[in-house]
Amino acid sequence: MSKKVPVLVTGGAGYIGSHAVLALKDAGWDVCVIDNLTTGFTFAVPEGVPLYQGDIEDGELLARIFAERGIQAIMHFAGSIIVPESVENPLKYYHNNTAKSRALIDAAVKGGVKHFIFSSTAATYGIPEVSPVTEDSPKQPINPYGMSKLMTEIMLKDVAAAHPLNFCALRYFNVAGADPQARTGQSTAGATHLIKVAVEAALGKRESVGVFGTDFDTPDGTGVRDYIHVSDLANAHVLALEGLIDQPERSLTMNCGYGTGFSVLDVLDAVDRVTNMKITRVLQGRRAGDPDSLISDNSRIKATVPWVPHYADLDVIVQHALAWERRLTEIREG
Ligand SMILES: NC(=O)c1ccc[n+]([C@@H]2O[C@H](COP(=O)([O-])OP(=O)(O)OC[C@H]3O[C@@H](n4cnc5c(N)ncnc54)[C@H](O)[C@@H]3O)[C@@H](O)[C@H]2O)c1
Repeated sequence: MSKKVPVLVTGGAGYIGSHAVLALKDAGWDVCVIDNLTTGFTFAVPEGVPLYQGDIEDGELLARIFAERGIQAIMHFAGSIIVPESVENPLKYYHNNTAKSRALIDAAVKGGVKHFIFSSTAATYGIPEVSPVTEDSPKQPINPYGMSKLMTEIMLKDVAAAHPLNFCALRYFNVAGADPQARTGQSTAGATHLIKVAVEAALGKRESVGVFGTDFDTPDGTGVRDYIHVSDLANAHVLALEGLIDQPERSLTMNCGYGTGFSVLDVLDAVDRVTNMKITRVLQGRRAGDPDSLISDNSRIKATVPWVPHYADLDVIVQHALAWERRLTEIREG
């Protein structure tokens, strides 16, 4: 059993960060959050978890948090996440994701933080030549979002070699679903994630769902992705942290996915099944830079930490996303 250390979660008021906060809290870790609330929500931070409203580039605030709470580990989720926006406004991504991660890592080194977990992405691979994708596949991001994340991975590798800090970069595939108890979920208005969009349509918040591309080299012609339930992903973070604590000389880079692909039409069929409805599908052209198929090889994470997914079922992912979407309506309507 690893020793539990105080953890700071950046972006803990956001979608994935708030699930990590719950996973840590549920397992008895001492956890606090820093978030500037640009896309996060105070309601996503569980009661009793301190929320420092501020920016990850604020070195003074970070130094105060580290000292006040004896922080020894950081889980770093804060960032900007919209791929097309990164193409239109690359400097925003190199600022918020890369430069501010640099500032955070700098503060961590100065503050003697020992362990650092970083939200990376399958977008670091670009359009992979071989699927499933292993961690050693070429890293060739095709947009500034993916590049901003890869640059942060590279910084962490160099910093871990020079300072007493180890890190784990987790490369997420398509994150979906919500806390099984509907305590948190994806709340951002105008989100573009397929399952979120489809459950919004099921609840009448949108008229239809766009299917972008029907001529991919896949069994039904629509893009195939590896959907991972956000709570399984959050647990992977806790296990990765335990791994960093147990072996302080070792840093890790691991894919996070189930290793199973579902097409856009598979996902929409699942939403129809779960909701007992027929959501309107609007077939459209491909978006630039969408690979045919993006599936993780997850053998490394399974061999490295005792990660056992509990929600690797598309219908369950959809059910939890739907339950959260209903809860979100209640929260918004007060
Ligand atoms: N959602 C996905 O499918 C996915 C896939 C791969 C990687 N990721 C990565 O996971 C992380 C979390 O993504 P998410 O989907 O939860 O997004 P999100 O927008 O819901 O959460 C990001 C959080 O960070 C906060 N934030 C942003 N910039 C900040 C700053 N400079 N200082 C302090 N707080 C700041 C926001 O207010 C928000 O609460 C991101 O780093 C993202 O790149 C997400």
